[in-house]
Amino acid sequence: MESNVSTKELYDLGDQPPLGEVPSKMHAFMVRQDRFGKPIDAWKSEVIDVPEIGPKDVLVYVMATGINYNNVWAALGYPVDVIATRQKKGEPETFHAGGSDASGIVYKVGDNVSNVKVGDEVVIHSGTWQADDPWVVSGKDPMLAPSAKVWGYETNYGSYCQFAKAQSHQILKKPDHLTWEESACYMLCASTAYRQLMGWAPHTVEKGDVVLVWGAAGGLGAMALQIVSALGGRPIAVISDEGKRQFCMDKGAVGVINRNDFSHWGPLPDTDDPAFNNWMAGARSFGKAIWDILGERTNPKIVFEHPGEATLPTSGFVCALGGMVVVCAGTSGYNVTLDLRYHWMHQKRLQGSHVANDDEASAVNELVIQKKVDPCLSETYDYEQIGHAHQLMHENKHPSGNMACLVNATSRAQGSK
Ligand SMILES: NC(=O)c1ccc[n+]([C@@H]2O[C@H](COP(=O)([O-])OP(=O)(O)OC[C@H]3O[C@@H](n4cnc5c(N)ncnc54)[C@H](OP(=O)(O)O)[C@@H]3O)[C@@H](O)[C@H]2O)c1
Repeated sequence: MESNVSTKELYDLGDQPPLGEVPSKMHAFMVRQDRFGKPIDAWKSEVIDVPEIGPKDVLVYVMATGINYNNVWAALGYPVDVIATRQKKGEPETFHAGGSDASGIVYKVGDNVSNVKVGDEVVIHSGTWQADDPWVVSGKDPMLAPSAKVWGYETNYGSYCQFAKAQSHQILKKPDHLTWEESACYMLCASTAYRQLMGWAPHTVEKGDVVLVWGAAGGLGAMALQIVSALGGRPIAVISDEGKRQFCMDKGAVGVINRNDFSHWGPLPDTDDPAFNNWMAGARSFGKAIWDILGERTNPKIVFEHPGEATLPTSGFVCALGGMVVVCAGTSGYNVTLDLRYHWMHQKRLQGSHVANDDEASAVNELVIQKKVDPCLSETYDYEQIGHAHQLMHENKHPSGNMACLVNATSRAQGSK
């Protein structure tokens, strides 16, 4: 195993140990079950043991971390208690030291790791799986393997740790032109968006395709706008606040719809209920807003979904004949309704999608390296503000794009730029 044991037990954040020297303890932001609830109270910094790594793992000295919605859910302990779930599978930890997006420096590699070495400056993608999972061994998409898990949400020792533990296949080159915090903020959302848009052939973005992007100024949405645009598609953005309009146009949107101009949100009324006619009028006028932007009667080939309950009936309605609604979350609720008449007669596809495999993460990282996708770093907070950043996200008060927090980086704009 490439690395040395440090003589010092614990380093302050930013007091960088000699390259490859790993102390026995580290700082880590974590939640515990007895403080599940508001993210600002649930996330706290503690000192824990640096984890052991396996033969195919790496340990990364984290310079900065991205902030993602999954760890809002982890803080709430809802819809899944990630700690209890792991304990049921035999893991002993009574905490969740999370974080699914990191930039940093490799400090230790397992005996069977050949793709990275100590000293490499890297970013980490969050698709994990067991290398010996028969599905993975057979060469099929590992994100569909029974052992697939989201790093730093379903697994422990993520990017809010001074030293993060990851599988070596998760490691990708840090783009040279980005700072630590810019590099830390995009990968989870960018790779998830890329899989939604390019992972479900034949429903992939092609030149001229119209793609409707919900939450377009959010972390996922900002990535989706740019990916669609880079691939020659025509992204239409949905927002709830006029302050986000210009941001979306700057990220490649061909037009922007404010969802507050409509009121037909939520589950579909019973199709025999008079309220259904009001819903249908709202959905039709939303569809017309898409046509008005395009200047033609074209419906979106792909609807990029994540709000779920509030919006899915509309997504299903406006999606093109033979098109796809691709969904990776249910931010507004999980109890989705759909008018099946439009679904089957127009032969639409409703596709679930979750994080990304190595190829997808690498492809979107390449778009970032080529400067075709900007990480959209919105704000950089200090390590102590990890809980605050999640609280902002929980209240939908966070700035447009992707947030980052410093971990071992001691000041903003560190890193080669
Ligand atoms: N499965 C995966 O692999 C995966 C990966 C990444 C993220 N996610 C999930 O995807 C969701 C979005 O993540 P994110 O990072 O983009 O979060 P985000 O930055 O908070 O953006 C979400 C956006 O959704 C919009 N929104 C909120 N409530 C809505 C509603 N009722 N109807 C329509 N739009 C609504 C908001 O935009 P407006 O208010 O401007 O419309 C908000 O900006 C989260 O639930 C997250 O957990 C899943």
